[in-house]
Amino acid sequence: MRLDKFLADAGIGTRSEVKTAVRKKFVSVNGCVVTDPGTSVSETDIILHKERPVSGSKPGYYLMNKPAGCVCANKDNSKTVFDLMSPQERKGLFTVGRLDKDTEGLLLLTDDGAFAHALTSPRRHVDKTYYFEGDGVLAEQAVLKAEEGLDIGDDKQTKPAKLVVLSNDTKNRRVTGTLTISEGRYHQVKRMMAKLGVTITYLKRLSIGGLCLDETLLPGNYRPMTEEELAMVQTEREKE
Ligand code: URA
Repeated sequence: MRLDKFLADAGIGTRSEVKTAVRKKFVSVNGCVVTDPGTSVSETDIILHKERPVSGSKPGYYLMNKPAGCVCANKDNSKTVFDLMSPQERKGLFTVGRLDKDTEGLLLLTDDGAFAHALTSPRRHVDKTYYFEGDGVLAEQAVLKAEEGLDIGDDKQTKPAKLVVLSNDTKNRRVTGTLTISEGRYHQVKRMMAKLGVTITYLKRLSIGGLCLDETLLPGNYRPMTEEELAMVQTEREKE
């Protein structure tokens, strides 16, 4: 198939728009920039437009630095994380778990249900670490209490969580720290910290299992997951 037809079919633009994009050197085929819109390509070629994979070579695994102000839903009255992606890239994707509208940080998006299950199944206990800032004062026993499990109003106590206090300014009643949890209950970090006397004012997910937030991604930016990152998740899956 001609490259310009491939790009147009993948929703990158009209036939004349994609021809311009190719001539402007926005497109590469198997790592080489091409300038001829008539170049012959096939489904097995790795085709990038502005360094992002185009349909057919779409990886189906993305890592995003979720910004505050958008929700993890395919459709909503508010802006969604998918509104940050091109219609062509977002096709078939869903989020691996959810972050609250006001939470930032590491979010994975995929079209692979087994991949998502491996990271979110309650039986897997994959650690998720969050950085928080909040109003309040943490008591000396807070770390131990988080470790022992908290009653946050559900039928079961929370599983052991690791609280690291980075600052505890008793005068100004401001706290910062990280909390690592292995469950994914609704508003879990906010509810656990509330139980410990802290109202969260800022929350950002730093990691899921061995996968870390790519700090070079500005909030709202995303990229395909690397082979190393996918292999890391595969290792987690094999532990099952
Ligand atoms: N816990 C919360 O309270 N909010 C999130 O977005 C994620 C974990």
